Amino acid sequence: MTINDDVLILGSGIAALQLASFLNKDLNVRILTKEKIRTANSYLAQGGIAAAIGEHDHPNKHIADTFEAGRYHNNQEAVKEIIEAAPRLIKFISEQGSVFDKNQDGELLLGMEGAHSEKRIVHGGGDATGKNVVEFLISTLKENVTIEEKVFAYELLLNSEKRCIGVKAKMPDGTIKQYYSRNTIVATGGCGQLFTYTSNADTVSGDGIAMAYLAGAEVVDMEFIQFHPTLLYLNGETKGLISEAVRGEGAILVTDEGISIMEGVHPLKDLGPRHVVSQKIYEYLKKGCNVYLDISKIENFKQRFPSITAICEENGLPLSEGRIPVAPGSHFLMGGIKTDLYGRSSIKGLFAIGEAACTGLHGANRLASNSLLEGLYMGEKLSSMLNKAVHEDILWTEINRPYIPQEKLNLPDLQEIKDTMMERVGIVRNKANLQNQKGWLDTFHAHQINHLNIYSVEEITKIFMLINANLITEAALKRTESRGGHFRSDYAKEDDHYWLNKTIIHKNSQGM
Ligand code: SIN
Repeated sequence: MTINDDVLILGSGIAALQLASFLNKDLNVRILTKEKIRTANSYLAQGGIAAAIGEHDHPNKHIADTFEAGRYHNNQEAVKEIIEAAPRLIKFISEQGSVFDKNQDGELLLGMEGAHSEKRIVHGGGDATGKNVVEFLISTLKENVTIEEKVFAYELLLNSEKRCIGVKAKMPDGTIKQYYSRNTIVATGGCGQLFTYTSNADTVSGDGIAMAYLAGAEVVDMEFIQFHPTLLYLNGETKGLISEAVRGEGAILVTDEGISIMEGVHPLKDLGPRHVVSQKIYEYLKKGCNVYLDISKIENFKQRFPSITAICEENGLPLSEGRIPVAPGSHFLMGGIKTDLYGRSSIKGLFAIGEAACTGLHGANRLASNSLLEGLYMGEKLSSMLNKAVHEDILWTEINRPYIPQEKLNLPDLQEIKDTMMERVGIVRNKANLQNQKGWLDTFHAHQINHLNIYSVEEITKIFMLINANLITEAALKRTESRGGHFRSDYAKEDDHYWLNKTIIHKNSQGM
């Protein structure tokens, strides 16, 4: 058996690339990505990266906004550490390349987004921040980093001490390969594709979270799903993100008649927290009314938002009309694989960073533009530990999961998973719908699966989606209050007994 790597990274978003970029040259690093290196939510990120660098701003204000948006469910240590690092992380990238937009004096331009008390959104290429940062990070990778595309990792390998020693993957030709590594990093993103409407890349189906869960890792806060208020909505389908930065530049949400829908709903109106704005738009759409972003007051829209302009034009929407039809869609998972502030999971040798992980930074609802920030911070932080790690003796033989002969699972249509999750476990939840969904999900027994080798990549993806759906639904049933990205019409208020309670689930916990 060949021990390939010091560090094996699953996924290729900003957290993954930042980690690879900061790892020492004498470490063997491998990135496995199930599509192409640039296929990730990070690449699509429009808004930017939040950092308190404005003249009147201070990290303490950014910290306060993060807690308020997260409805105080956040991990205080994570918030302080990550938010305070933001100005340094931005300065580092900004000094090395023309990644971010600057004024004629070379100062960073700062945008505004929902629930921020100051202008602090650093952006690049107008609304192509993620693309710019990803391209920059790829350009910094050294020869010690090998990238393998179209490799679908689907099972974590554990030895008899329950230490992670690598992964099993399906290769492009359908064969199965084992990758052994001293450290395995899940950076596969969240699970946005679980819902009918989403801003997420087609590949974002919760693979890493499901793999970690099946291996016995703790997952936490899965009930907290952020629905972004404004996706382009045409003919009953969503077509891509319309950044909150558009509202930051003055766009407002209106009805067919041009009446503002956020007036009197929240003191910050159109720039209120995402769950508040999404719930309001959802209410209108449910009544059969359309909601639009009125962009008529924004000067030079095309220059400021070239990617959004392209999305609208590709979908045949003339911007000259001055309004964009919108609907909310799943955008970000606040929960995920439970980690500490080095990215360590509850399984030795297994780490998680980026959206797949839950450090607790985001609490019950992420503040806009804090996610790329978390990816940059956690990638760098984990590298600092792995760069210093002393090679320990590792038992390199994996234990095979006990083989319990099973019929191949009967799996539902992909669209059925998405539609039922959107309807029953989406923006507005209640006990009857959650129980209904739980009952339906239980009929597939996906979370009891013990052998995946016989399934195709498409089937495993579906099984992973069902496992994530189960985790979300079970956590949503347990939380009998509303907080941030978890809204229950039958428990519509926050319940202070609950504010720091975490819903931690692992394979041996009750109920799954
Ligand atoms: C946006 O541009 O509205 C999304 C930014 C984010 O989710 O942080």
